[in-house]
Formats: sequence, C-alpha cells, structure tokens
Amino acid sequence: MTKRFGVLAYPAAHSLSPAMFNAAFKALGIDAKYEIFEVRPESFEKFISDVKRWKIEISGLSVSLPYKEKILPFLNEVSEDAKKIGAVNTVTVRRENNTGDVKLFGDNTDFVGAVEALKESSLSVDGLKDKKILVLGAGGASRAIVYGLIKSGAEVTILNRTKEKAKELSGNFGCGYDELSSILKYKPEVLVQATSALLTEGISARIVPEGYFEKLASNGCKPVAMDIVYKPSMTPLLTDAKNAGCEIITGDKMLLLQAAKQFEIWTGERAPVEVMKVAISK
Ligand code: ATR
Repeated sequence: MTKRFGVLAYPAAHSLSPAMFNAAFKALGIDAKYEIFEVRPESFEKFISDVKRWKIEISGLSVSLPYKEKILPFLNEVSEDAKKIGAVNTVTVRRENNTGDVKLFGDNTDFVGAVEALKESSLSVDGLKDKKILVLGAGGASRAIVYGLIKSGAEVTILNRTKEKAKELSGNFGCGYDELSSILKYKPEVLVQATSALLTEGISARIVPEGYFEKLASNGCKPVAMDIVYKPSMTPLLTDAKNAGCEIITGDKMLLLQAAKQFEIWTGERAPVEVMKVAISK
C-alpha cells in the first residue's frame, strides 16, 4: 500500500517539500507520496485526533509554522534534541500491527540542516568546534540553530534587536549574547542570519549596517555567511557578503539538508540529496 507523508502547516500552499520528497521517493522506488496538509489553527486538534484514530492514514509529517511547539503535548515520545529545542519539525507515525494503536514520535531536524550546511563549507576541516559564530535573531528559528551549533562545540554569540530575548535564549544554552546594534564589535568566523525581518518587512529589510561585510573584510575578517531565508535564496545580506569576498550558504541548502534527515528517519534509507536539490531548483 502506498505510504502517505505530508507537511502540516498554515499556510502551506507554497511549500517546496512535496517536490523534494516525491522526487526522492521516485528516485529510490519507494511506494509513497507526500502531500500538503494546510490545516487552520481551529482544525489542528481535530487533524491530530484523526491521525491518531487512523482516520487519516499517514506515516510521517513535516511540521512547520505555526505548529512546531503546539504539537508537543500530542506526541507519545519526543527525542532528546527536540525536547531541548522545545520544538518538533518531524513526526513519525507508527501503527501497531496487533492492536492498531497509533503512536506519534517527534524529532527535530532543523538544527541538522544548519549544522550540516556549515560542515560542508570550507571552514570545516575540524567541524565547528571552537568556531566563533554570530547568530542574528532569538526566535524559534534561532533556537534550533543555536542548539545545533553548541552541540557541535562552536562558540556562539546571539545578537538580537531586543537584548532581553537574546539573554533568555543564551541562558538556555549557555552562550554569549548582545544587542544586534553592537554587531561591529565582533569578528566572527561564521554569521547566521536567523531573524524574521525579511518575512515581516520584505526583501529590503536591513539587518546588518550598510557596508558591514566590507568593513569586516578591510579588517581581515571574512566570515562564512548563512541566511535561513530561502525565497529568494540570494538575500541582500548574502549578496553583500559575497561582494566582500565571503563564502555564502543559502537557506535552500539548510532546507534541503533538514529534509534529507527527515527522509532518513522515515525510510531508513540514505536520502538522494542531489535529486531533491534539483527538485527544488526547478
Ligand atoms: P521565528 O520563529 O521565525 O524565529 P520569531 O520567534 O517571531 O520568529 O522571532 C523573530 C526574530 O527575528 C526575533 O529575534 C526578532 O527580534 P526581536 O526579538 O527584537 O523582535 C527578529 N526580528 C524580526 N524583525 C527584525 C528586524 N527588522 N530587525 C532585526 N531583527 C528582527
């Protein structure tokens, strides 16, 4: 029987996940399909209840906004990583053969996407250990990234517009924090843009001061720059970084690598990353 998977989000219509996963299933000859479950907040509990009662026969869900935290109380088990991050982006559904009981297992692969994308960059002869990393933003997206970076041994400082929020997040993970406006004090080896500024204020939102990367470069500092935004994948921040001679990592790489990890959790097979990459670049 064809296994069903899907993304649970609201809104979800523009998700790139169906293209990625369906291409991967096809490439490996796996009898499965991946759909969009655009579930309104008022229907969320009914949806989960239908999954648990096998009224919706689904084997796995990618969980996106606004449900990554909201889904936690409905899960039978949650991985240590997801517990520490406080959010789940991957649900595996298992149905017992004899009893028909349906159990939901939560995990988080968002941090894997960020860490793996950085590990593939040029800085990574010895991984991320002791690398000086600035993470801009202190919301949900930053939380998973900071967790992953610290787990990899990096020396992380969170910079946020509202310093209090940076302090709170850093308190959870034991890293540095400061206000975003102090960014010029730092000489990072990696800079991760994880604010929602582009989403809320549009593509022209300015997150770092004008000429920031040029200034750093003139002081001999050329950080690897990564942006979580994947639409467009070439953000103004990455353009500035590239023009200053910095290596850049686009958000679609993180998206791809977190999905690859999800694929592996669900199927036990190595994800065909190149096939998935082509699927989202179309
Ligand atoms: P997400 O789950 O996408 O991370 P969030 O939890 O709402 O979203 O967090 C958004 C983050 O982006 C916050 O750190 C926010 O800064 P504040 O804590 O000061 O609000 C940051 N952010 C949003 N717009 C920004 C902007 N124009 N400049 C700088 N930071 C911004």
